[in-house]
Amino acid sequence: MSDMMNSRCKIRPFDSCDTDGFIRLALLSAGGGPEEEKEAERRNLLSLERPGFKPARDLLLAEDPGGRLAGYGRCFKEAAISRQLVEVFVSPRHRRRGIGSRLMERLLALGRKAGAVICHTRLIEGSREADFCLRLGFRPVRRYLEMSCDLAGVARGANDENVGPFDRFSAGEENRLAKLQNGSFRGSWGFCPNSSEDIHFFLRATRCSLEDVILLKQEERDAGYLWPSFAHEKIPSDGTRPARIHMLGLLPVYRGRGRSRNLLRCGLADLRNRGYLRAVLTVDAENTPALALYSSLGFKTEFGWIWYERGIDSGSP
Ligand SMILES: CC(C)(COP(=O)(O)OP(=O)(O)OC[C@H]1O[C@@H](n2cnc3c(N)ncnc32)[C@H](O)[C@@H]1OP(=O)(O)O)[C@@H](O)C(=O)NCCC(=O)NCCS
Repeated sequence: MSDMMNSRCKIRPFDSCDTDGFIRLALLSAGGGPEEEKEAERRNLLSLERPGFKPARDLLLAEDPGGRLAGYGRCFKEAAISRQLVEVFVSPRHRRRGIGSRLMERLLALGRKAGAVICHTRLIEGSREADFCLRLGFRPVRRYLEMSCDLAGVARGANDENVGPFDRFSAGEENRLAKLQNGSFRGSWGFCPNSSEDIHFFLRATRCSLEDVILLKQEERDAGYLWPSFAHEKIPSDGTRPARIHMLGLLPVYRGRGRSRNLLRCGLADLRNRGYLRAVLTVDAENTPALALYSSLGFKTEFGWIWYERGIDSGSP
């Protein structure tokens, strides 16, 4: 493809007839085997239904003069924290010709219009695309860690007598989980309060039912929870598919008395009983208590994520 053709790529909003083309494009970034590809397809199709996300407004496509899709950019607005999350992807054969920058510019304009103040995106630590973000006025602001743990050493039946019995949510209790999650993560970096609709969506995304979420109660009150994810993870060469600890949270008043360790032990034993051999999770590198907890149960860092930030009205992309 010539530079001239690339420079004539047009950027336009997604239309429902673009679904197949968008999925094909998104799969280019998935990597892995057929099972991972199937999961990436499911995840990307589902992403079109995320609450508050309107594909015809928030998903932009770059199309070459031959009508082929060359890239996409999408943004998720989080009005409660005045933030816009963005993601840009350009097919390898169309790269380094300004398409990614144009997609990002258009996404930032959408954020501005929606009243967002900051824009965030994340990259794997050390990735070459860091220059792309820096060039567009983004700065690294936070590091997250991807950790994993071998489940072989995790004890079964980990309920301790100093922790109340573990309960389960019942179907239809999305609002109850939303309340507990919002109370547990209020003020955490990058956390946007969830609605019941968000919870419903993320349960689907994690292939989890409400009944799979472990509930910690103290004196009849909801105190904490552990939300696992059974969405297929990247499968290591030994074929062991890990499960994920999607969320683990305790309301502030119940912290500091060993309850989260028991909740996590119980969650890990649960995963092992379901046949998983590894568990993975993502944690803010500045969250010292969580890091200490995960390390104490054998989690080791696999790699880092870097969050990049840009003020929506600052910089000059
Ligand atoms: C990052 C990405 C979107 C860039 O798309 P693109 O169309 O090639 O980007 P542009 O042509 O607009 O690049 C603008 C500038 O960013 C920098 N840049 C882009 N890709 C780069 C790379 N792989 N290595 C180093 N610098 C890079 C360069 O400074 C480039 O200018 P130059 O080509 O004049 O040197 C594309 O590589 C991609 O889809 N990667 C995978 C997904 C991803 O990491 N997205 C970023 C997070 S939102």
